[in-house]
Amino acid sequence: YQIYSTMSNPDPNRLPVSYEAWEEKARDVLEDGPYYYVAGGAGGENTMKANLDAFQQQKIIPRMLRNVEERDLSIELFGQTYPSPVLQAPIGVQSIIHPEGEIASAKASAEMGVPYIASSASSVPMEKIAEEMGDAPRWFQLYWSKDPDITASFVRRAEQSGYSAIVVTLDTPMMAWREDDLKNVYLPFLIGEGVGNYFSDPAFLSKLEKSPKEDPNAAIMYWTQIFGNPGLTWDDIAFLREHTNLPILLKGILHPEDAILALEYGVDGIIVSNHGGRQVDGAQGALDALPRVCEAIHDQIPVLMDSGIRRGSDVIKALALGAKGVLVGRPCMYGLAVAGQQGVKEVLQNLIADLDITLGLTGHQAVSEIDRSALCEVKAEV
Ligand code: FNR
Repeated sequence: YQIYSTMSNPDPNRLPVSYEAWEEKARDVLEDGPYYYVAGGAGGENTMKANLDAFQQQKIIPRMLRNVEERDLSIELFGQTYPSPVLQAPIGVQSIIHPEGEIASAKASAEMGVPYIASSASSVPMEKIAEEMGDAPRWFQLYWSKDPDITASFVRRAEQSGYSAIVVTLDTPMMAWREDDLKNVYLPFLIGEGVGNYFSDPAFLSKLEKSPKEDPNAAIMYWTQIFGNPGLTWDDIAFLREHTNLPILLKGILHPEDAILALEYGVDGIIVSNHGGRQVDGAQGALDALPRVCEAIHDQIPVLMDSGIRRGSDVIKALALGAKGVLVGRPCMYGLAVAGQQGVKEVLQNLIADLDITLGLTGHQAVSEIDRSALCEVKAEV
């Protein structure tokens, strides 16, 4: 209602409301390179589309007369209470989207109490993000480097700067076939411009003969050698366990058998995701993968999801199919491109307001009440 009341005094410079309008405005302000870096997907972008289609194929059946005057959006994860089931997804190299990059998106998260997941590939060191966020909740996303010293160093730095969980992204042992980035010859620029979190890491720096400032090309070359680790196996999870007591979440799980392995190897949570359709073109839509993964997990550890969350009703559908919370990626980046910190804040605020309204309109007093009965028969899964 706070949001509707501002409509009596419409400001011609008002920021966009819908996801589509944010994207359109971001397209106006970004050059081709950064725009397609955010908006693009792998290959023919079939999975990127499948992510959105999966949400459209699920239909909600609202319930009536259930006293929805008071509504509780909060969730609990790993002993912490968060104000809503929305988290900000890890996104790398944000300085190419807005000069304030991760600092702006992290501060927007902090203002909203929305957990911020800082990417390994952040443009700025993770300590700087932490400093700007104060006590606000934050997790660290780990790209598991081929160099174990760098992996261990990232985890140590995250612990020391107040990140309260480690999200290991499994779906990117190498960068996918991304046709837009190839066309725009964008990857070398991306690395050179923005992986400040690596270029400030003591273990990374110790492997270079000259600093990245003195010899940027050598630093970029080394980064390309150590970024991904296609040799990883499930047994490597033990290495991570030895290096941290923080909760460990695996991001990028789609197959129920992998969900079972995640349980066997003793991780604390998983994130069902196909990286926003940016890795395997032709992979299943993330929402379609969610029910079978949740059946395999059987409530033993929390399951989060991302890839395609755009509106409040999408969050309801993800929770109905078993997710405890959702991560939002591109919408925040369009907010960042258009209006920096304020833009990201507005995108998050709108999504959470939409969720709150839709929660009430579907007859729920709390997000914890949402289950499969909120949806029509679940469509046949692949
Ligand atoms: C990503 N994503 C990502 N994931 C990750 O674990 N580490 C990273 O550094 C990045 N970087 C990144 C950059 C950009 C531009 C995008 C769009 C995405 C994936 C991200 O965390 C998330 O899985 C998806 O963005 C979710 O899909 P939606 O919300 O964008 O549809």
